[in-house]
Amino acid sequence: MLVIIKKDYEEISFEGAKLVASLIRKKPDCVLGFATGSTPLGLYKHLIRMHKDEGLDFSKVISFNLDEYVGLPPSHNQSYHFFMWENLFKHININPSNIHIPMGMAEDIESFCEWYEAKIVSYGGIDLQILGIGSNGHIAFNEPGSSLGSRTRIKTLKEKTRNDNARFFKNFEEVPKFAITMGVGTIMEAKRLILLANGKSKAEAIKATVEGPIMAKYPATIVQLHQYATVIVDKEAAGLLEGDYST
Ligand code: PGA
Repeated sequence: MLVIIKKDYEEISFEGAKLVASLIRKKPDCVLGFATGSTPLGLYKHLIRMHKDEGLDFSKVISFNLDEYVGLPPSHNQSYHFFMWENLFKHININPSNIHIPMGMAEDIESFCEWYEAKIVSYGGIDLQILGIGSNGHIAFNEPGSSLGSRTRIKTLKEKTRNDNARFFKNFEEVPKFAITMGVGTIMEAKRLILLANGKSKAEAIKATVEGPIMAKYPATIVQLHQYATVIVDKEAAGLLEGDYST
């Protein structure tokens, strides 16, 4: 696991974007795993700028998103479909037919999840997966206690996560209780992982992820076993780390 500590949010966003852009330039038809939440927004802004100013070409890129709330249609302004279109897809030249996001309105969720896993495999797997991390150590919506070998499935959201995300909804009650999420095992099969975190609220989760024992209580700790995982954090999120990560 490579740990990169940067000054602030802007620097981690740029660092992450450079890794993504360099893969797209090397392999124009790469398979990217996208994440939602506030953390990757800065990285997406850089990708949009690189597309507009430097001609970064997404026309052959295939994308898979990590997760989606159950029960929110793509048109809902808090759905992850909406988030991805607003914050990235509508600003770049990605082919809409190459975009995959879990369907929160799927009638048969179990079959949908199987289809999603098979679809990832049909493209040869995810080349690079972008990850945020929850303050409780979740990755995607794999909440504490998730099986470390889990696949795409429906998960019940923890109260902590619903509270963290309530800021985006009118009130806590409106935050969905369930989500479809790639599993920890699905994420670990990506050829490369980039986990981003910023701010003090993530310091404990980052400490566990980088230096703690691997355990389902903090699903993100499994990233320690990935051969090509890069953790990019700002000084605040790195605040509890004891090791020396200077490069
Ligand atoms: P955030 O969420 O980027 O909004 O902090 C991250 C996550 O819950 O995975």
